[in-house]
Amino acid sequence: MDRKEFIAMLNQDLADEHASVIRYLIHAYQVGEDTPLGEMLLSTAREEMWHMNWLGDEIGERGEEPDMVKADFPYEGSSNASLLRSYIAWEDNLIDVYEQQAAMVEDRELKRILQQLGWESITHRRRFQAWLDKLGPEGEKPLEFEETDFSAGVMRRFHHEVDTHYKLVLQHLRHAFIFEDPACPIGSELELSAFRHMKHMSHFAEELGEYGEPLPFEYPGVDTSRSLTPALLADLEMTEDTRDRLIALGQNPEVAANEDLKIEIDTMVTRNGLLSTVLHELMEIAEEGPPEVRTESLPAPEVTTPGTTEVEPPSSITVKPENSGIQAPKAEGKRPPRGFTVGSLKGSQD
Ligand SMILES: [Fe+2]
Ligand SMILES: [Fe+2]
Repeated sequence: MDRKEFIAMLNQDLADEHASVIRYLIHAYQVGEDTPLGEMLLSTAREEMWHMNWLGDEIGERGEEPDMVKADFPYEGSSNASLLRSYIAWEDNLIDVYEQQAAMVEDRELKRILQQLGWESITHRRRFQAWLDKLGPEGEKPLEFEETDFSAGVMRRFHHEVDTHYKLVLQHLRHAFIFEDPACPIGSELELSAFRHMKHMSHFAEELGEYGEPLPFEYPGVDTSRSLTPALLADLEMTEDTRDRLIALGQNPEVAANEDLKIEIDTMVTRNGLLSTVLHELMEIAEEGPPEVRTESLPAPEVTTPGTTEVEPPSSITVKPENSGIQAPKAEGKRPPRGFTVGSLKGSQD
């Protein structure tokens, strides 16, 4: 397998994990995130998002472009049982795919990641099978949806919020992957911001999902800057636009009359203000130049046990001389292991 095929393989994995996130999220929105089935689906979707993160970081660290378009997830959507059967078939396939890939790759960190993806796919398969058994004949009933009290105009605005929040999530993730560097906080901050925008998106998607509205999650296009300052500017612009839009939405009489949603929108407004501040601070870091950039001559990474990795930066780091902002890393050489640990799930509940 040459390098091009190898990166294409990782990008296919990334697209599959992305498809898993979206499929399980949509189902959670439809049945309600606060139902036991919805909670299981939401929690599985969060795990899939971490899988996206691990793969995206691997691609970004190699100086390659992560494919942010999701794969096609075939499913039969008439009932909870038919959906769960689709998920079992999907995870079954991924279990085999990851087992083969883990056996094939030599890079020890990537091998660990692929093995973990396979093991967690087994967990997901078991979880879905257990739910299929538990639901029994009840699971075969067609999905039912409530009638909405919101006007068509407000529903359209909710759709717009889902679309733009999806774009915020994907764009922040793409930038987190591209600018991932263990010596610099930018990648991890952008990753956390992606999770926050995903949570915000859920408030609108759930309003739509429970009324049986289609949620297509079509690829919205994302900023493709390869240097940091324009990438952060694109994120900042979207974050500020979103804040302004949410302020206006909160003033809509129909929305203002829905106490639960109004509370969440008010929280999103302040949270987007905070995220803008963080982005401004990251831009200051970017303009000063990254504090530390790794050389290509680092020692090969040690194998570490998941759950114990907290790697001290090695001493052989150099200070980047110019102040032109970080360019996308082109790391062909070995890098120390990053936080691929159970501990790297911190913040996943947010
Ligand atoms: Fe996964
Ligand atoms: Fe999975």
